Amino acid sequence: MRPTTQPRPGDGPPVLVTSRPLDEYCACFGLTRAALGRLPGPVLDCPGGAAALAAEARALGCEVVAADPGYALGPHRLAALAADGRATMAAAIHRDPRRHLPADRRRPEKYLRSWDRARGLFTADATAHPDRYVAAALPRLPFADGTFALTLSSYLLFAYPAVFGPAEQLRALRELVRVTAPDGEVRVLPLHDERGRHCPHLTELRAALRHHRIASRVLRTGPTTRVLTLRPARPPRPGTYRPAARSERTAPR
Ligand SMILES: C[S@@+](CC[C@H](N)C(=O)[O-])C[C@H]1O[C@@H](n2cnc3c(N)ncnc32)[C@H](O)[C@@H]1O
Repeated sequence: MRPTTQPRPGDGPPVLVTSRPLDEYCACFGLTRAALGRLPGPVLDCPGGAAALAAEARALGCEVVAADPGYALGPHRLAALAADGRATMAAAIHRDPRRHLPADRRRPEKYLRSWDRARGLFTADATAHPDRYVAAALPRLPFADGTFALTLSSYLLFAYPAVFGPAEQLRALRELVRVTAPDGEVRVLPLHDERGRHCPHLTELRAALRHHRIASRVLRTGPTTRVLTLRPARPPRPGTYRPAARSERTAPR
């Protein structure tokens, strides 16, 4: 994935805008429609882009709030950027289908049509319910502590290391945990950049998260898909003391 626009204040978002449907979210995040329907509180999708999660999950009884700086542009302009994003992805799939086509998909055209459908659902839903699409940019979100039962973040924090370096990633991950309920969970993917290179400092980042009392795990949800899950670490039992590990003391803040 390559950015379709460069960072230019006031001229749209700096990274590719995409429009994944609910089923693709479920497949990559290791979720099911039933699990979404059973959640005890709302879901945050950040970045939401022109994805259809918010529009489609409502039929399951699941309330989704999407956050993305691109929402300041309005649904139609963002959808136009997502159409550009679709064209960029079509070219990338054509060049290297093994890297860009999800492992469970065989037919690029059918896959990209699912993005077109999602883009249409997004445009209609964001036009009808603008309050569910909040213009906001990580690492600062305008939500109270513990608002969401589940927070999902796809194709941003590790996909664009030129935009989010290690310190910005840590700040953004901590913010995603802040807005998530103490018994909720944050899920982030992918753990590689737009060229497929795995995040080289994931171990240090996880140590830094531990230092901030955030427990992390790497979940495998598909043949090539890894998801970082985050939860507030349980407070230590009274009377116990755990000195910080060396890696935690030297990790980026
Ligand atoms: C590749 S899209 C992912 C959209 C959606 N999650 C999906 O999978 O289809 C990346 C999105 O990140 C948004 N973005 C860029 N900078 C951001 C930031 N600082 N905070 C939140 N979102 C940001 C862009 O506007 C874009 O819509």
